[in-house]
Amino acid sequence: MRRRVIAGNWKMHMTCAQARDYMGEFLPLIEATPDDRHVVLAPPFTAISTMAGLADGSRVQLASQNVHWQSEGAFTAEISAEMLLEHKVRYTIVGHSEPRKYFSESDEQINQRARCAQANGLIPIVCVGESDQQRERGEAERVIRRQIEQGLEGLDANRLVVAYEPIWAIGTGKTCEASEANRICGLIRSWVGAMDLVIQYGGSVKPANIDELMAMSDIDGVLVGGASLKPDGFARIANYQTP
Ligand code: 13P
Repeated sequence: MRRRVIAGNWKMHMTCAQARDYMGEFLPLIEATPDDRHVVLAPPFTAISTMAGLADGSRVQLASQNVHWQSEGAFTAEISAEMLLEHKVRYTIVGHSEPRKYFSESDEQINQRARCAQANGLIPIVCVGESDQQRERGEAERVIRRQIEQGLEGLDANRLVVAYEPIWAIGTGKTCEASEANRICGLIRSWVGAMDLVIQYGGSVKPANIDELMAMSDIDGVLVGGASLKPDGFARIANYQTP
């Protein structure tokens, strides 16, 4: 069975003090989480060092919210793989719709970030997904396929996570129907041609819909924004129940 990856993306939330309080409440709640589930948190850069200490010896693995494709240099506001590895970061989120939208990240840049991540032993979580206008125009599959073809070029599918995050479902409370999310995740798997590829769904995942999503055949995990900020809610997500 493919491994399950339950990841929380804290985005621009959480000071170090807040992260400490969070982990104090969260860790006891995931002690009995089944071993085949990888529980991942992506704090802001300022909290990574604190989180590395708090997560040490626990079930929690760390992700970063970005990685640059160069090992060092004049790249203000960026971060290198080596800097992340120093703090035991294991995953890195690239291609999220927010940097795509606010900083005009291209599929080519996303691919460079993901390649550099893999070259350094990090597992990229490559995010793809269509906007509501693209879906309404019937372009969703074409858009996602292009993001997959360009964003995943040259990557090893065995050391990769793809997150299907329809933009219209992010932070809106509007979850994609589980069956539709599953259909798109299945298409992604067939386009990549790797049965073992781990594919997440993201977009308004919460305790109320996690069980239904994780019961789907092609959804191997979730990438959670808002609902990962509450330790009890995210623990319920990690402790999802399937029939
Ligand atoms: P929400 O769970 O808040 O909709 O955010 C999803 C997301 O963007 C995770 O990366």
